[in-house]
Amino acid sequence: MAQRRGWMQRTKQLRLWIAAIISGACLSGMMAAQKPAHAHETEDATWWKHAVFYEIYPRSFADSNGDGIGDLNGITAKLDYLKELGVDAIWITPCFPSPQVDFGYDVSDYLNIDPMYGTLADFDRLVAEAKKRNIRIILDFVVNHTSDQHPWFIDSKSSRTSKFRDWYIWRDGRGPNKPPNNWVSTFGGSAWTYDPKTGQYYYHFFYPQQPDLNWRNPAVKNAMFDVTRFWYNRGVAGFRLDAVDTLFEDPNLKNNPISKPGKNAFGDPILENKYNTKLPEVHDILRGLREIADEHNGVLIGETWTTDVAELDKYYGEKNNELQLPMDFLFCMVNKLSAPEFRKQIAAVNEASGWPTFVISNHDIVRSYDRYGDGVHNDAIAKVMAALYLTLRGTPIMYYGEEIGMKTTPPTRQEDVKDPIGRTGWPKEKGRDGERTPMQWNGDRNAGFTTGTPWLPIPETFKTHNVADESKDPSSVLEFYKKVLQLRRTNPALRYGNYTPLNEGDANVLAYARIGQTGGVVIVLNMSGVPQTVRLGINTKGFVSAQNLLSSGAASIKADRVSLGPYGVFIGQLTR
Ligand code: GLC
Ligand code: CA
Repeated sequence: MAQRRGWMQRTKQLRLWIAAIISGACLSGMMAAQKPAHAHETEDATWWKHAVFYEIYPRSFADSNGDGIGDLNGITAKLDYLKELGVDAIWITPCFPSPQVDFGYDVSDYLNIDPMYGTLADFDRLVAEAKKRNIRIILDFVVNHTSDQHPWFIDSKSSRTSKFRDWYIWRDGRGPNKPPNNWVSTFGGSAWTYDPKTGQYYYHFFYPQQPDLNWRNPAVKNAMFDVTRFWYNRGVAGFRLDAVDTLFEDPNLKNNPISKPGKNAFGDPILENKYNTKLPEVHDILRGLREIADEHNGVLIGETWTTDVAELDKYYGEKNNELQLPMDFLFCMVNKLSAPEFRKQIAAVNEASGWPTFVISNHDIVRSYDRYGDGVHNDAIAKVMAALYLTLRGTPIMYYGEEIGMKTTPPTRQEDVKDPIGRTGWPKEKGRDGERTPMQWNGDRNAGFTTGTPWLPIPETFKTHNVADESKDPSSVLEFYKKVLQLRRTNPALRYGNYTPLNEGDANVLAYARIGQTGGVVIVLNMSGVPQTVRLGINTKGFVSAQNLLSSGAASIKADRVSLGPYGVFIGQLTR
């Protein structure tokens, strides 16, 4: 329990470091009429609305050559698994050549594959094999910064007059050992690193090995736009845009205000990133990237850390011409299993001008299994979460291993930490290794992930939580995920229906319906550890009862009264 509180604590810290953006603003969430779908929308053009996305951290998914690190051929070998699970698109976190300081988020060549992950030919084979199974491939585009080993930066730092000098952000200091301003890196220390050779500082929102590109330079923009064309032409279906909030900085380099007294986990002052995040210029770039995406029927997913839905809304673009899928991290940051909190956030995001995108885990935050789990009913709670975000009106992005109930396993000794922020921030910040441990395929040695030595240790729970064993157990988390995903695919109300909240005053049970032209589905989730009976009030919507489609725990319905066991789930087809 104490340990779990530690993880929760860390999620809070991550909330701060990711961009010091989330200020925990309270959302007022009144439901109003749903926005109608545009008449001109065709199924093909809006494929991303009904697709289920699945994030793969390639180092940790499947190792095909025994070096202990997952790779592209490993992913290709698991496509049948993903197909059977019900995945329509996979987002692969960066697999480009990289010195791996930030495990791929420091790219030294945008137009190739890191040898550790394979070759361009392996990539092409992955795309082709995925296509046979109707699975699309989404790449991770690190737009804000490159690696310091990228040829652009190597040239940039070679002299003040070099060709690529102005591709990065170079400034004079304010005096000896005095960086240009007070901005701090979100990964610790000053955001400026001094280069003795040319006598100037360069700017980096993340590690010093991740210098920020100068997006005010049109040459940067053109080169980066061309990167997306290169991959579209190779068959990718879109991009997840990394750290989009951070693309622009105030040209006058105004100091950031202090937002809180004291120091953060890295010992730095706690600043509000007022002048180096979320500048309006970012929207010009997003519109440009979207134009190219539209030429290729591609999707843009955004890593958008926003304070409220009004802010999230801006990322869709005034004319819905920016990101189709800005991630709603406010949903993800509801850090306790709370019906009122989720209800509020879902209502708020249903009011946004674009299509909602729901995420409950990723490679930067504590896994949902531990964030919501109480240590006793974690599997039942994992099913509640699956039933929630896979039945909402919006696009879900799953995280590998979530479907088998993988837990977060942070390192216990500083010397075992791989993620550099865990090394610099230890012990307050243990880094992100815990949520990046290898996928658990079976109960054999190394959970079937590798024949070599896995790059991160495999959690002990692989013996009970793995694909092979859970596939044989109808009551497993995995089988539940499969059933919900199948319902999502086949039930028209779950596909096209609106979101209608039910029983809105309930503190323990989250209930809603998805009502479409031909019928409706009701979803009732007990977010408490005690049995609950609720009256749905569906008669006001023209229904009398519902027929069980899928449930978990003891669940029954009589007219419009649903009874659920602790952390129980009831999904039913509404009847008239
Ligand atoms: C994003 C990524 C994270 C990475 C950072 C810097 O937040 O999700 O993993 O460290 O960007 O690229
Ligand atoms: Ca490998």
